[in-house]
Amino acid sequence: MNRLISGASKIGRLLLANKISRHSPFLEPLQFDYEVSSSLLQCLDTNGRKLYQVEFREGPPVGGLAIAELVTPKAGTMRIVDLGTGNGIISIAIAARGCDSILAVDISERDCSLASGNVRRNHKEHAIDVLRGDLAGPLMDKAIDIVISNPPQLPTDVAEPDKRNFAGPTGYEVIDRIISQSKTCLIPSGELWLYVLGFLGVEKATGSLPCLFERLRSAGFHPRVKRRLRRTYSRDTSVLEALPLIRALYPISDVAINFPNAGYYEAFVVCASQRNHEEREQCRGDVA
Ligand SMILES: C[S@@+](CC[C@H](N)C(=O)[O-])C[C@H]1O[C@@H](n2cnc3c(N)ncnc32)[C@H](O)[C@@H]1O
Repeated sequence: MNRLISGASKIGRLLLANKISRHSPFLEPLQFDYEVSSSLLQCLDTNGRKLYQVEFREGPPVGGLAIAELVTPKAGTMRIVDLGTGNGIISIAIAARGCDSILAVDISERDCSLASGNVRRNHKEHAIDVLRGDLAGPLMDKAIDIVISNPPQLPTDVAEPDKRNFAGPTGYEVIDRIISQSKTCLIPSGELWLYVLGFLGVEKATGSLPCLFERLRSAGFHPRVKRRLRRTYSRDTSVLEALPLIRALYPISDVAINFPNAGYYEAFVVCASQRNHEEREQCRGDVA
C-alpha cells in the first residue's frame, strides 16, 4: 500500500493515479477501493462508482477510512460524533452511506477548515456540522448514538507538544478523556468506536500500564476488536519520532522497525458497546 501511495504522481488536482486496494496485503480486506494522489483520496464502491473524495494534508488518512468503513448507520436518525475529525474523512464516509446527523469536532482551526471544505466538496452540508472544540466538550448535553474517533495517541515527553498526533506522556491522555466523556453523552445502547495503534496494548497490556480493554471495561464498556490492520512506517515520521518512548513504555509491543522500508506496526478498530453481548442480542430480537 505504501509503495503505491509513495509512487503517487500529481498531474493536476484530479489525477488519482494510485490505488489502495481492498485486497492489499497490508490491510485486512477493505470494503471499498481507494484511489490516492498526493493530496486527494477518493473512495470507490465495488462497481467503481465514486462514493466520496477528501483532500488531505499529512498523508492519506488510512486509519480514518479503516474505521469509517465499519460503521453502518442504522435506519432512522443516528446521532454520530466524530472526535478529532481532521480532514473529516470519517464523517464524510459515514454521511456517504446515509447518515445525516453527524457532528465533526476538532480542536484545530486549520483542521476544521479543511474538514468544512471537504464537506462542501462532497455536498454533505445538510448531514455534517463541523465544530471547533475540545473533544466532546461542546456536546455533553446531547444524546449520542455513536462516538467515533481516530484520536491522537503517540506518547511525548515534550511539555507543549503538537496536539495533532501526540497525546501526553503515555499516549493515553486523549483516549482516556474520550472514554469518560463518551460515558456521559452516549445513549444506553450507544457505542464508542476507536482506531488504536497496537503498541498501546489493546486486548493485553504491552507494558506496565493498563491496556485499552481494561480502561474501557472499568468505565463500563464491553469492547471487541472489529478489524486488525498492518501498517508500514516508512513514511510515518510522527511514529518514528515517538519510537524511543513507545519502546520504553510498551516494551513487549510488536513494534517491528528493523528495516527502514519494511517495518510495520499493527492497528486496531475497536467497538465498545454500553451493552453486553446478551443485551445486544436481546435488542436485536426485540427489533425483529
Ligand atoms: C490522528 S488525527 C485523526 C484525523 C482524522 N479523523 C482521520 O482519521 O484521519 C487526530 C485529530 O485530532 C485532533 N485533536 C487533537 N486533540 C484534540 C482535542 N482535544 N479535541 C478535538 N480534536 C483534537 C487533531 O487536530 C487531529 O485532527
